[in-house]
Amino acid sequence: MASFCLHLAAAALFLVTTLSLISPSNSATCTSQTFTNNRPYSFCNDLPSLNSYLHWTYDQAKSTLSIAFIAPPARPNGWVSWAINPTSTGMVGSQALVAFRDAKGAMTVKTYNITAYGPLTESKVWYNVQESSAEFSGGVIRLFATVVLPQQGKTTVNHVWQVGPSVTAGIPAKHDFQPANLNAKGSLDLLRGQSTAAVGGNSRTKRRNVHGILNVVSWGIMFPVGIIIARYVRTFPSADPVWFYLHVSCQVSAYSIGVAGWGTGLKLGSESKAVTYSGHRNIGISLFALATVQIFALLLRPNKDHKYRFYWNIYHHGLGYVILVLGIINVFKGFNILQPEHKWRHAYIIVIAVLGGIAVFLEAITWVIVLRRKKSDKSTKPYDGYNNGHGRQEHLAP
Ligand code: HEM
Repeated sequence: MASFCLHLAAAALFLVTTLSLISPSNSATCTSQTFTNNRPYSFCNDLPSLNSYLHWTYDQAKSTLSIAFIAPPARPNGWVSWAINPTSTGMVGSQALVAFRDAKGAMTVKTYNITAYGPLTESKVWYNVQESSAEFSGGVIRLFATVVLPQQGKTTVNHVWQVGPSVTAGIPAKHDFQPANLNAKGSLDLLRGQSTAAVGGNSRTKRRNVHGILNVVSWGIMFPVGIIIARYVRTFPSADPVWFYLHVSCQVSAYSIGVAGWGTGLKLGSESKAVTYSGHRNIGISLFALATVQIFALLLRPNKDHKYRFYWNIYHHGLGYVILVLGIINVFKGFNILQPEHKWRHAYIIVIAVLGGIAVFLEAITWVIVLRRKKSDKSTKPYDGYNNGHGRQEHLAP
């Protein structure tokens, strides 16, 4: 019985993946970019985050690296930065070139040796800057530089890039801490023209994705399916007590997957140094608490003739709908934080719309059946199916 729900979740996941593959994705590439003064570069790369691009030429004999870094600043008066990190993979240790508009309104490029997650102080950097300049047009800043790398023979470097919202008194203000900002790092093979995501960033991204998938499947798909089963399938006399076992198996499997997803979320939250997504976090914690109460409610279910059963029903159904709504809201909050490609959000919207359509259809059928039954003088409660599923399932064991 439990496998039914897991199959269902797998089918939903398959559907989401297929739908997401069908949707078109952004196809802009660096190869179509040209420069006003016809600067030639040997390689270019569409960097994996922040809509940024890097063009470069590396002269191994002279150890000179010429780059053009193109990125949209977070706001029109913001900054963009490209850096090499000779000692590590993230922001700290980066030797950065930052381009922005100075107090006189001219585009300028400054260098920063970033020693901590804090305000930047202009300084000399690990490489020697032969020339640098920047221009701003069409919503993007183009940062040009030719630098001499001190370490001859090293052809793969860790690089980092970033965009910020503003510059105050010549000091670039801190950037956002969205996943796109935190993933803006990788390693660059200067001679082969490849840029790959940094190992650390990659594994964090993977864990974020695992967190997203677990929670979408559980709170976003399986809980709603379990609720649909409880509300509509029990209308059919032949589905009693099967609906009950299906409902229990669905919700228990959803809960197990949901708790795993919740745990990964807590871990990700505790690792983030600068940012707390309080809305998403609070809803996640509430969902966990409410769903745990629901699971206990199954075990503490009063007998159908018990005087408290009526109140138990109100509370169990009420909590169920709260979980349904909060679960879906939190999936969308998660999409806003994770910012996956639009196709994933669209695919989930399609899945949830299909489930909603099924619910509306079954709601209509339920009313027809119940009203007919009422006419022939059987049940009087609109949502009570045949014997309300209590004829044979007082105990949880199948
Ligand atoms: C302007 C002042 C800046 C401040 C106050 C600042 C602050 C921070 C903080 C606190 C984090 C950690 C966020 C977290 O893990 O929760 C971070 C991450 C990051 N920053 Fe900055 N930053 C600044 C400038 C820059 C610049 C110029 C670059 C580009 C060279 C950059 C690139 C990055 C990257 C790639 C990450 C994610 C990877 C990592 O955690 O090291 N930042 N920043």
